[in-house]
Amino acid sequence: MSNNSPRAVFGSSLTAMLVTAGCSVGLGNIWRFPYLVGEGGGAAFIIIYLLAVIFIGHPIMLAEFAVGRSTHKNAVGAYSVKDKRWGLLGYNGVFIAFVIMGFYFVVAGWTIEYMVNSADGAFTGFTSADEYTGFFSNYVSGVWTPLIYTWIFILISHSVIALGVQKGIERATKVLMPALFIILIVLAITSIRMPNSEVGLKYLFVPDFSKVTSRTIINAVGQVFFSLSVGMGCLTTYASYFSDKTDIRKTATQLTIVDTIVALLASVIILPAVFSVGIEPTSGPSLVFITLPGIFNTLPFPELVSTIFFMLLFIAALTSTISLHEVVTAYLIEERKMTRVKAVSMVSAATVVMATLASLSLGVLSEFKIFGYVIFDLFDALTSNLLLPMGGVMICVYASWILGDRFMHAQLSNESRHSDTIVAINIFLLRYVSPVAVFILFLDGIGVFKMFR
Ligand code: PHE
Repeated sequence: MSNNSPRAVFGSSLTAMLVTAGCSVGLGNIWRFPYLVGEGGGAAFIIIYLLAVIFIGHPIMLAEFAVGRSTHKNAVGAYSVKDKRWGLLGYNGVFIAFVIMGFYFVVAGWTIEYMVNSADGAFTGFTSADEYTGFFSNYVSGVWTPLIYTWIFILISHSVIALGVQKGIERATKVLMPALFIILIVLAITSIRMPNSEVGLKYLFVPDFSKVTSRTIINAVGQVFFSLSVGMGCLTTYASYFSDKTDIRKTATQLTIVDTIVALLASVIILPAVFSVGIEPTSGPSLVFITLPGIFNTLPFPELVSTIFFMLLFIAALTSTISLHEVVTAYLIEERKMTRVKAVSMVSAATVVMATLASLSLGVLSEFKIFGYVIFDLFDALTSNLLLPMGGVMICVYASWILGDRFMHAQLSNESRHSDTIVAINIFLLRYVSPVAVFILFLDGIGVFKMFR
């Protein structure tokens, strides 16, 4: 650890791993992944997702880590080092963070609502799928309750960043992340043992490629970016606090594996239960919230288990919102020379406006659509399926073509602790495979290939 550097440096690789896991593991894994699996036809979606993790997500993560660790600067600063114009990548990230926060805080607010209602025993009497669904839609389409919980969540995230209590969060994460993991495993076992769960397991493990459309592929690739938090410089910022000894290949691989396992576990919990409780797998964003209380009701002490689960989901969401919030705040402090308090307050105030619009778009503003999307869905689709992949391609090009092979080789080989072949494969994927794959998918997504069919 270098002591003469004015910037903080993470003490150990374990810390590096845990804080990046705090950023990556969140609602994306537990809320978004299972419902996309449900919509995308199950196993086929998962296979496409896993391929995209290996060939697109992991290489881009390596690039972000390399850029961050070598410059020790915030996202805008890090990408401007070679040429100011590449700083645009950092600005893209700041913009994306802001839009993601617009809908992420709304879902985070739902976790509080579900925590409170679980503790209150609101779900214990429910027996039919309609009751779970009705409760959810009633709640999200309302005006005040979801808004208040969203604002409370913003306030909590704001306080953590303003007070700079990340240390506390870091320490808490070390205990809470493993706790989340254990609860997920227990729930997965419970779900598999529910009646009729075989239908869900088959759905998860036997692929039916006839259901795959270009939308499925775009959703899977978009989810890789969203879930791993790549494509917007968030991990670049975290890696700027890595010490020069941190093995970025190892950290990236571990992070990718943990993130993927949590997502898979979440769908092993949700999908079998979906078929058991009689819920439609294509229910979309409501899926996790309408299914989980059904699983908890089959367990002893449902109120307690449910409250603990939503509390952990709340924490997983909080560690992610902190990193999103921090990307914009750090930019305002370092590049716009604002004080911390002013920067945090501006970000929070603007986020309140965005999140309020997103929350209301599920109820009173549901008639208001842009490109056919209500605001909540627009924020979601715009970031995952367009801006993050675009940012990802640019990061690949920047790291492997502009900074070049020699740079990437030096960063990835960690004083030649890794064999040249593995590093060469990493660089090859980064240079050719990831950007080309994302670009082709992007063209397909905007309908270019349809013209030739
Ligand atoms: N990866 C986070 C999740 O899965 C969301 C996120 C995206 C956080 C981008 C930071 C940056 O919930």
